[in-house]
Amino acid sequence: MKFGLMAGAVVLGLCVSSAAIADGAQDMGAGAMNRGGGPYSFQGGQAIFTNVCQGCHMPNAQGAVGAGTYPALAKNAKLEVAGYPVAVITHGQKAMPSFGNLLNDQQVADVVNYIRTHFGNAYKDKVSPADVKAQR
Ligand code: HEC
Repeated sequence: MKFGLMAGAVVLGLCVSSAAIADGAQDMGAGAMNRGGGPYSFQGGQAIFTNVCQGCHMPNAQGAVGAGTYPALAKNAKLEVAGYPVAVITHGQKAMPSFGNLLNDQQVADVVNYIRTHFGNAYKDKVSPADVKAQR
């Protein structure tokens, strides 16, 4: 656990230094994919967002346009139907890699619940690990 937190802090440091430009965001995304080479240990929606998602979607979830287009998750009406972000995260979509093998059902549920209740989104219904499992 201690090690996990430290590793998270290192990844966060990289994110902050590279978040300014979209090119950096893409590097960060690829790095996040390669690092570890197995399931992520991050626990809780915020930790997962910070370590896995914000490299592309930006710390404030505003998205970015540069080397690629990273849609904003902030104030995103497409998050209203919870099954949509669950599907995008577990299966990937176009330029977004799939995280189905890197995040377990609980982790996917946690990060979906996090983005749906932060960044100007206020969708109250919660996704459960069983909901995620059903969409795999
Ligand atoms: C390597 C970069 C990258 C990473 C890392 C990444 N995404 Fe994405 N994401 C994208 C791109 C690119 C798209 C647009 C896909 C498309 O064109 O449909 C996207 C789309 C999405 C969408 C759909 C948004 C919409 O308006 O249709 C959601 C939801 C989403 N991502 C959530 C996440 C979450 C949660 C994480 C972390 C677990 C994450 N993403 C990590 C690049 C990334």
